[in-house]
Amino acid sequence: MDTGGFTPATLSALIALVRKHTGIAMTERKSVLLERRLRPRMQALQLGSYQAYLDKVEQDRAEVPHFIDLVTTNDTLFFRTPQVWDYVEKEFLPQWWQSHQGNKLKVWSAASSSGEELYSMAMLCEEFAAAQPGFSYQIHATDISQQILALARDGQYTGRSVERIQSTHPDWVKKYFRPSAGGLRVVDGLKKNVELAQHNLLTPLRPARQFDLVFLRNVLIYFDQDHQQTILNQARLSMAPHAIMIVGNPNRSLAETPPTSSTGR
Ligand SMILES: C[S@@+](CC[C@H](N)C(=O)[O-])C[C@H]1O[C@@H](n2cnc3c(N)ncnc32)[C@H](O)[C@@H]1O
Repeated sequence: MDTGGFTPATLSALIALVRKHTGIAMTERKSVLLERRLRPRMQALQLGSYQAYLDKVEQDRAEVPHFIDLVTTNDTLFFRTPQVWDYVEKEFLPQWWQSHQGNKLKVWSAASSSGEELYSMAMLCEEFAAAQPGFSYQIHATDISQQILALARDGQYTGRSVERIQSTHPDWVKKYFRPSAGGLRVVDGLKKNVELAQHNLLTPLRPARQFDLVFLRNVLIYFDQDHQQTILNQARLSMAPHAIMIVGNPNRSLAETPPTSSTGR
């Protein structure tokens, strides 16, 4: 097995350290990716070897958040997997409102990355509220990476994210974004019902039974089966009775009050 610039022992130690701090299951096949991500940090810290960097992560707690930022994968898009958003807009929101009038909808964007998922939900909620007076909502968004949460908090987007929202919802770009720094920034009004916090999905989120809708998308793939099960069990505890968890495409894996697996309804 080619371990790239790592010795076999350093690569094993690195994979173990990723698992310890994030739960993510990496294999030796990721050595090139890991090298590419860690090298700039190692150089910035003027450390002469990958092993010296791993020692630093082990010995210096302040380095752990940087390490987590480097080893997590944060790909996301506005309205990623359109079938999910069709379902939320046309089925979930009207049905929830019919049976919960007077209540506040509570949504959890778990593993929210840079925020495209949570602001997609916020836009749908704003539109729904305009048509249904009295509707209110709160979105709690979490991720393990501090750096990516800071981007989500900022709500400033460029590149693919901007192209995506401009092509899927050009009218909402005018309504919910302002031009900023060569890209787009979400308006403050879209942040008013949003709170962001760091959270590791392998740990409980308190209080229990609080959310009506949980997004747990494009994240389980990074974990082995044991950890997937733990994450699903933890997420399930945070769901109100009759809540919905979305783990993928509604045609494949929308689970109502998920049981102990990620299979369909
Ligand atoms: C590929 S993104 C998914 C973003 C979004 N949910 C989507 O579907 O577009 C995966 C996110 O999971 C986060 N993540 C990885 N391990 C985590 C853990 N143990 N706890 C919480 N978040 C984690 C990463 O930081 C990353 O932002």
